[in-house]
Amino acid sequence: KNILFAASEGTPFIKTGGLADVIGSLPQALNNQKDTEVRVILPLYENIDHSFKEKMTKITSFEVPVGWRLQEAGLYKSDYDGVTYYFIENDFYFGRQGIYGYFDDGERFVYYSRAVIEAMPYLDFDIDILHAHDWQAGLTVAFSNIMQPKPGMKTVFTIHNIQYQGWMTPQAFNDLMNIGAEHYPGLEWHDMINSMKAAIFHADKITTVSPSYAEEIKQPYYGEGLDPLLNERSPDLMGVINGINTDDYNPSTDPHIAAQYTTSRVKKKENKVFLQRELCLEENPDIPMYVAISRLVEQKGFHLLERVLEEFLQENVQVVVLGTGDYAFEQSFSYFSTRYPEKMATILKFSEPLARQLYAASDFFIMPSKFEPCGLSQLIALQYKSIPIVRETGGLKDTVEPYNEITGEGNGFSFANYNAHELLYTMRYSLLIYSRPELFKPLIANVNRSKFSWKDSAKLYSGLYDELV
Ligand code: GLC
Repeated sequence: KNILFAASEGTPFIKTGGLADVIGSLPQALNNQKDTEVRVILPLYENIDHSFKEKMTKITSFEVPVGWRLQEAGLYKSDYDGVTYYFIENDFYFGRQGIYGYFDDGERFVYYSRAVIEAMPYLDFDIDILHAHDWQAGLTVAFSNIMQPKPGMKTVFTIHNIQYQGWMTPQAFNDLMNIGAEHYPGLEWHDMINSMKAAIFHADKITTVSPSYAEEIKQPYYGEGLDPLLNERSPDLMGVINGINTDDYNPSTDPHIAAQYTTSRVKKKENKVFLQRELCLEENPDIPMYVAISRLVEQKGFHLLERVLEEFLQENVQVVVLGTGDYAFEQSFSYFSTRYPEKMATILKFSEPLARQLYAASDFFIMPSKFEPCGLSQLIALQYKSIPIVRETGGLKDTVEPYNEITGEGNGFSFANYNAHELLYTMRYSLLIYSRPELFKPLIANVNRSKFSWKDSAKLYSGLYDELV
């Protein structure tokens, strides 16, 4: 079976978040299954590195109807790591710096979605299933039902984050796409065109990135208004946990870290001292190090951490925060590192090498998300033997089992309520366990046994595709 992935980002070409990691690693895993070929189609952004662009070949130019005009699109192709990628070129929509955040993002991804449909005859790929990801590609699913570019083609839509839905006024949409008023009920939500709703309404199957999140989004607290529709579509909704690329995230080969290590001899201390020196923290390998590596946004639970940092920094610990995001969080974490320069460091940037050095150096990984469809960093943390401290939601709940000192089970620490002091007590409890080797050792043994490759999840997707064709 042939599957076309439509998405707005994918590693190694372009990335803002976890979506890109999934688009950059799931196709490889699926292509290892028999009779399955996945190809990927992405927008050709200005910011895709020149070294990738050099290797692309142009297939053709074609036209995409936008309003009363026809907009030209270029179609490019490139193979990477055994996967064929297509790119849609349009300088007006994608020849700009950055990926998202423009006033006309709605229009840009309406264009992208329509262009994917119009590109199908030129792909030289007999598509059985169109598999679209998140709102930016959501309208490909709706257009495919409405326009029937290839009769019999089935659709799958994956929700990576239901908070971002792609809203626009029907007037604006109508100026772009002339598709007949009878189709609007499937696209509209509270009198607005909603790309995510359109995809959930039209897709043959809907997936999301963890079993717990699949249940949560049927509730008002997590559903972002779409819970009634998700309840209606419940029989076709399934949660499949994400994996990570374990060849890439591998402490025994990672070129970025100070001291590479294997499970049998974990070199936390070497990596920690290296980083303490880099970040001007007190140099002492015995101080437990807690890190957070994330976009600094409300979703990730930073209100909780911010609230209890003052108290937690009274302990003999070090805390490092790496990431960019909301100004208020950037300011408050910077404040704590100024106030406690030997104990806390805040680095306001996105740096892959530094991120990896932090995973390798830290003892604990803090991720108290308000909601978390899957979460990949807790999985990377486990790979690098940094013990996750998470809130029990979505994919965090499905991948981190709280340590139980009586039974010796569990690979991390967790708490249930979105409450700052529950986080503080959990962090303090982790500190207690850390100080008692007879309790800490079994925990580390469980961390070492945790496995998060794509293997099992690829089988689930494969089964879902089989049901459809
Ligand atoms: C989004 C979600 C995150 C998930 C990722 C990949 O970024 O917020 O939880 O891991 O998509 O599916």
